Amino acid sequence: MTETVPDTAPTQELPDFPAPRSGACPFAPPPDLLKLHDTDKSVLRVRSWDGTTPWLVLTHAAQRAILADPRMSANIGAPGYPHTTAAMKAHAGEMQPSINNTDGAEHVRWRRMLTSSFTRHRMRRLQPAIQQITDDLIDRMLDGPNPTELNEALSLPLPSLMICELLGVPYEDHAFFQKHAGVTNAVNRTPEENAATAGALRSYIARLIEAKMDDPDEDVLSDLGARIKAGELSLEEAAPLGHILLVAGHDTSANMITLGTALLLQHPDQLAALRENSGDPDYVAKAVEELLRYLTLPHLLARRAVVEDLDFEGVTIRAGEGVIASLPAANWDPEAFPDPGALALDRSASHHLAFGWGPHQCVGQQLARIELQVVFGTLFRRIPTLRLAAGLEDLSFKEDSQAYGIYELPVAW
Ligand code: HEM
Repeated sequence: MTETVPDTAPTQELPDFPAPRSGACPFAPPPDLLKLHDTDKSVLRVRSWDGTTPWLVLTHAAQRAILADPRMSANIGAPGYPHTTAAMKAHAGEMQPSINNTDGAEHVRWRRMLTSSFTRHRMRRLQPAIQQITDDLIDRMLDGPNPTELNEALSLPLPSLMICELLGVPYEDHAFFQKHAGVTNAVNRTPEENAATAGALRSYIARLIEAKMDDPDEDVLSDLGARIKAGELSLEEAAPLGHILLVAGHDTSANMITLGTALLLQHPDQLAALRENSGDPDYVAKAVEELLRYLTLPHLLARRAVVEDLDFEGVTIRAGEGVIASLPAANWDPEAFPDPGALALDRSASHHLAFGWGPHQCVGQQLARIELQVVFGTLFRRIPTLRLAAGLEDLSFKEDSQAYGIYELPVAW
């Protein structure tokens, strides 16, 4: 069990996970996490918020190995699973099986439900719509008040509109699902808030799917409705899947747009290079990979329970213990990314783990990439004088959320 005190050190001497970020450099992973790379260990015990002592997998190579290992389970109800929050722990036993918490053949079945909806080709076809929405939002920004708040003006509406379009969810309801996505991702949410939010979102999605079973369209919820009719899936299974896509599909990309903009505004040389090369899709694509690496917004992931003993990188990890593959640690591993603290938009960073690794790697990564390429290729070209309208020290960073970000980013031009 993760509660086991390690042989080598008393619990109180173990590093805390997560460690706090530095106020001086809030874009970088926590300094105490990065220091662990100097220990030459790729796996070590850490102390979690609830006093348990899961294994932390640190290096890029070790994380790729562990996240692809079939002895790891994503089932949050499995013994030893290292929960991120008290709410998650409280509800672990009642969590319905879905794409993000199943393993092996059961997980493959869930992934197959989405294969045809998320092909690279289908995502590429969305590019003109993403460009149009980005240009419209920037037009509106330029016609509106200056300064303005970037989440409201651009970062949230773009991915929300796109995920609504893809799923077939009415955008008029965005205030409702954005509020619930915020609760879903908050680390300090109570078990009661968690249950209320999940219930509200699932009944909302279930109602939409039922309507689409009678009147289908070309969207993911209609695809799920067709699978229900074909007997491949039940409505009780489809609703949580729609819920996961709706939450994962807008909050993550939104946080990347805001964080990436703030980071670039701190690096004028890199920003100038991006602006100069904004007509070159290959340069912009590389720049987006570097931003994803540097910022690694799923900063508390990836987490697994061990279902069978394994000898790994010089330690024995037992069934019933927890494993945290810290994605920011992998993406700042100097062996994989030399001089990781240097933001270098032209480096080859596409082997980063910001979308995870192994069977649970992000389903929406192609959509996220296209959204980010369009935004970062357009925003600074259209508004070359864009600047922060607040001091870095006045910004409130989302350390308490599963997706790192900035609550409000005032910008001016
Ligand atoms: C910048 C944006 C995004 C980032 C950084 C991101 C990151 C991740 C990561 C790290 C995982 C793996 C978690 C694990 O192994 O435990 C994941 C899984 C997932 N993501 Fe994303 N994601 C992003 C955008 C999206 C979008 C746009 C969608 C949907 C349209 C999406 C849907 C999903 C789903 C359904 C899973 C679960 C896959 C599975 O467990 O098999 N994500 N994401």
